Amino acid sequence: MHHFISMMFSLLVIIGLQVSVESAGIRPERSFDRHYSSELMVQNGGGWGSWGDREMCPTGTYAAGFSLKVEDPIDGDDTALNGIRLHCVDLSKALSHSYHNYASVRSDVGSWGRWTEIKWCPSGFLTAFQLRVEKPQGKGDDTAANNIIFKCSRGSVLEGRGTSWGDWGGWSQTCEGTGICGIMTRIEEPQGNGDDTALNDYVIAGGRFERSISRPFRSLLTVHNGMRWGSWGQKEMCPTGMYATGFSLKVAGMWESLLVGDNTALNGIRLHCINPSKSSSGPYEDYATVQSDVGSWGKWSDIKWCSSGFLTSFQLRVEPYQGTWDDTAANNIRFNCSGKTEMVQGSGMSWGEWGDWSETCGGKGICGIETMVEQPQGVGDDTALNDVRMYCCD
Ligand SMILES: *[C@@H]1O[C@H](CO)[C@@H](O)[C@H](O)[C@H]1NC(C)=O
Repeated sequence: MHHFISMMFSLLVIIGLQVSVESAGIRPERSFDRHYSSELMVQNGGGWGSWGDREMCPTGTYAAGFSLKVEDPIDGDDTALNGIRLHCVDLSKALSHSYHNYASVRSDVGSWGRWTEIKWCPSGFLTAFQLRVEKPQGKGDDTAANNIIFKCSRGSVLEGRGTSWGDWGGWSQTCEGTGICGIMTRIEEPQGNGDDTALNDYVIAGGRFERSISRPFRSLLTVHNGMRWGSWGQKEMCPTGMYATGFSLKVAGMWESLLVGDNTALNGIRLHCINPSKSSSGPYEDYATVQSDVGSWGKWSDIKWCSSGFLTSFQLRVEPYQGTWDDTAANNIRFNCSGKTEMVQGSGMSWGEWGDWSETCGGKGICGIETMVEQPQGVGDDTALNDVRMYCCD
């Protein structure tokens, strides 16, 4: 009997190990602090906006591919390139160009456009880049960055599927060391009726700059049952004129938690914001997504939409402190909508109890979010998302 139990145990350990080695695609750990040896920059970035957070590939991995968030040309205000993701793979596996296990990192991203397919280096890692930028158009519509080309370590060149306004600038320097391992982007905040440019400039690694997202708000919704591990992340607001009418959750399920050996349940909340003058009932095609801090585990679930109106109040399901047992803190969330009398509930986990409802928004509805997330504890007990508060706008 003893023998059988120890067999089971060693089997679990082996599965656990394999998963943590290959975990890059499943639960990329964001690390702001990974050491790097140089910064690559180009001279032709636009001057608008503020730098986002630096995001680094998980330790031991390097960027071997990238994808772009691109808005196709429209009649109104064009923004062209809105975001860049790096896809990072393990040094020991960078031999093929088809990867199943990779970690994706991105810095700030604009609100428009869709992500294109990933372009991979045939072998090796990304080592230098070139940016296609449109010069300021005076009274015309500015787009700033339009496209990017990367060079791979064995010499091949990959061009993104961006847009084609403007001109290519010069090459950045080439990486000293193995390859590109982090990214920082400069994004212009939405300008309301003004002229939006979205992605302006791009640098590999660098200092950390503050985002200030300064849409005015009317009230703040809070609940009383949040836990207190971690610190409040940055506030993120829907673009001006837009309100949250849907949400999605990042949840670590039972299977992932079993393999990792720690339950974190709810890891992140995204609000999906629409412009009510453009459409009035879901499901919505055009929306902007905002999130505050997010934990390292779990997968994003499908979006839940109000069938009409906006999110106006919420309730949090929280597990109280478990002493020496495994804590999960926040497990699930639900919202009431302003349209019909309707409640939309996330598919989170079911430990703990629902707390009291927040107040109901004065003004139109929820337009911003701030989350409290606990940083990864290493060998300690992780709880990920602990508390959330929502902003309401007129
Ligand atoms: C939200 O809706 C539920 C179910 O209809 C209701 O019991 C609850 O009081 C509502 N909360 C608020 C804040 O209006």
